[in-house]
Amino acid sequence: MKFNKIAIKGLIGAAVLLFVQGTLTQQSFAQTIIPVQTQNNALVLEANNEKDLSIIFFGKKLADVNEYKLVSKAYKQSDDYTGLLNSVYTPSGSRNLVEPAISVTHADGNNSLDLRYVSHKETKLSDDVSLLSVLLKDPVYNFEVTLYYKSYFKEDVVEQWSEIRHTEKGTVTLHKYASANLHLKAGSYWLNQYHGDWAREMQPEESKLTHGIKTLDSKLGTRANLFQPSVFMISLDKPAAEDEGNVLYGALEYSGNFKIDLELDYQNNLRIIAGINNYASAYTLKSGETFTTPAFLYTFSDKGKGDASRKLQRWAREHKLLDGKGSRLTLLNNWEATYFDFDEKKLAELIRDTKKLGVDMFLLDDGWFANKHPRNGDVAGLGDWQENRTKLPNGIGSLIKEADANGVKFGIWIEPEMVNPKSELYEKHPDWVLKQPGRNEYYFRNQLVLDLANPKVQDFVYGVVDGLFTKNPKLAYIKWDCNAVIYNAHSSYLKNQSHFYIEYMRGLYKVLQRIRAKYPTVPMMLCSGGGGRVDYGALQYFTEFWPSDNTDPLERIFIQWEYSYFYPAISSSNHVTDWGKQPIKFRTDVAMMGKLGFDIVVSKLPENDLKFCQEAIKNYNSVKDVIWHGDQYRLLNPRDGSIASMAYINDKKTSGVIFNYLVNSRYGESSKAPIKLKGLDPDKKYRIKEINLYPETKSTINANAVYSGDFLMNVGFNPDVNSGRTSVVLQLEEAN
Ligand code: GLA
Repeated sequence: MKFNKIAIKGLIGAAVLLFVQGTLTQQSFAQTIIPVQTQNNALVLEANNEKDLSIIFFGKKLADVNEYKLVSKAYKQSDDYTGLLNSVYTPSGSRNLVEPAISVTHADGNNSLDLRYVSHKETKLSDDVSLLSVLLKDPVYNFEVTLYYKSYFKEDVVEQWSEIRHTEKGTVTLHKYASANLHLKAGSYWLNQYHGDWAREMQPEESKLTHGIKTLDSKLGTRANLFQPSVFMISLDKPAAEDEGNVLYGALEYSGNFKIDLELDYQNNLRIIAGINNYASAYTLKSGETFTTPAFLYTFSDKGKGDASRKLQRWAREHKLLDGKGSRLTLLNNWEATYFDFDEKKLAELIRDTKKLGVDMFLLDDGWFANKHPRNGDVAGLGDWQENRTKLPNGIGSLIKEADANGVKFGIWIEPEMVNPKSELYEKHPDWVLKQPGRNEYYFRNQLVLDLANPKVQDFVYGVVDGLFTKNPKLAYIKWDCNAVIYNAHSSYLKNQSHFYIEYMRGLYKVLQRIRAKYPTVPMMLCSGGGGRVDYGALQYFTEFWPSDNTDPLERIFIQWEYSYFYPAISSSNHVTDWGKQPIKFRTDVAMMGKLGFDIVVSKLPENDLKFCQEAIKNYNSVKDVIWHGDQYRLLNPRDGSIASMAYINDKKTSGVIFNYLVNSRYGESSKAPIKLKGLDPDKKYRIKEINLYPETKSTINANAVYSGDFLMNVGFNPDVNSGRTSVVLQLEEAN
């Protein structure tokens, strides 16, 4: 009598294998089942008697883990032919017939790879977090892959990555090296993806996937998300709605070139293969060396996009974003107020305006540096990080003193990965610059990218930041920009140019790790001309990101809306500027939906506008906790009608803020029906008052009325948005 051996990964992830007796069969086989389970979901792996490890289940988890072994038999799809269609990490060159996760040339020149299950191990890292590792080996070659699944139980999030190594005699070339390979089963698959360009970031597009491969990718090197980010959603069977439907969210935690292949195979299953883009990046792996991929991040909800987004936001705040549970500085930025045209006197005035406005910090933007080729425009000076003596004869130190005297903090803009050809840096170190020998230079915003694959350049970039902090210990904030893509990718440092894109990112992360080792908490904004670099690979070193240079509040409602599916509000830097035609109230209200900042000429504000801003900042300070740390509920999507409405509710469901806007100026458009709130306690009573009123206007909202959560969620609340009240901010509090 032989038993099936079922290795069950414990629910909350004990590092224990339970061996459970299974069914008895004549030709018995060793069926190893490995479920990766979180609070609501499961990804289940199964090794057959041939030791092929496959994905047999992905989705809302079953109540009884013993039933996963029955899943495969329930499907009567057409032949697989290879036994690899649902491979956990599809190798190529042997039996495989579809898009591989990994593809190699062995040391002896052979192109075939087969990966068989060897063992797995689970370690519990905390109450919430478990790490499963699964070892796969080629039976013929000394080549192995370890798959890692870091699961966050409460948040229903999994981070998956791979480690690739070999002990062959000589080097192995990795042609493809995905982070993750998933396999979903459904009737149909709906992809929600994003595209964009400068000032038009995060434009959503939803389509039904057809057979073949749909690829989301970037080959831009730096500013990799300019045209497309790696974040996406896959709805199963029908497009998921905000509060209904089965939806997977995916994202690569990586700031460089990425590639996500979504292959609808002939069996009508969806294969997702995500990782670094292998474009121009065959990687030569030495014997004994380990190649570690970045993590691919995913979550799944059977309750729609809203639930999935709240899980991801919570995960980011708890586990990934730097200081995700902490606080942020409100600020006044001078970019749009002065551009490159400023001096010490002007800045001193702006610092005083910072105080007058009531924000926490003054942020000095581009234009403060370089002497031989002064940074008076975007054509020169980038790379020469010395204070410009004409504009700042007394250096940054004197500005920080001025800020100190005014009781505000001081932050500064840098773009340390880049260089203008018109700079001393370029003159001194032409070999530090990425360019093709013998070809004309080609510029993006008149600049080139430095070769971060070169350790000397890493030291230089680290030195820019370290130098600023060493000279100015009171410096409170860095805005780290990255405005160019990589053209003519060539490193004069690297012997193997195929390693370039990967080594660039390794160099960047090494620098960021060094910075964080010495300055663990200083807030830094991840800026890349707006939206060009927003990803969780970078956000573990940054406290916030810059969603778009487009700060027209009407546009921002749409842009911020889409980012909010993947990133928490505390990480979204939103500035009030002069973009767009909306009044100051509208602009400020929209900027308050994340981390509030201003980039306006305070001294030129009409009296009531200034009064409004000062009051709004006070209001913001009283509601920012719920915006930063609360749950975000999308109530009315601006793409679906004339009103946008977004709510933030705290954990205890005792307070919240609701932002409402008119996004269509056609005659008579208004909030005709009440808006159903979400995330409240039906049994609690609430009061709702309007805040951020423009001076001398009265609210039409009765702040004394008391409503049950039940009423507010089932009937709703009317913010009374109309052409005379295009922007309405409501504060909700439990009524005692
Ligand atoms: C980029 C940023 C802007 C500003 C400019 C300065 O475009 O997105 O906010 O800092 O650079 O040159």
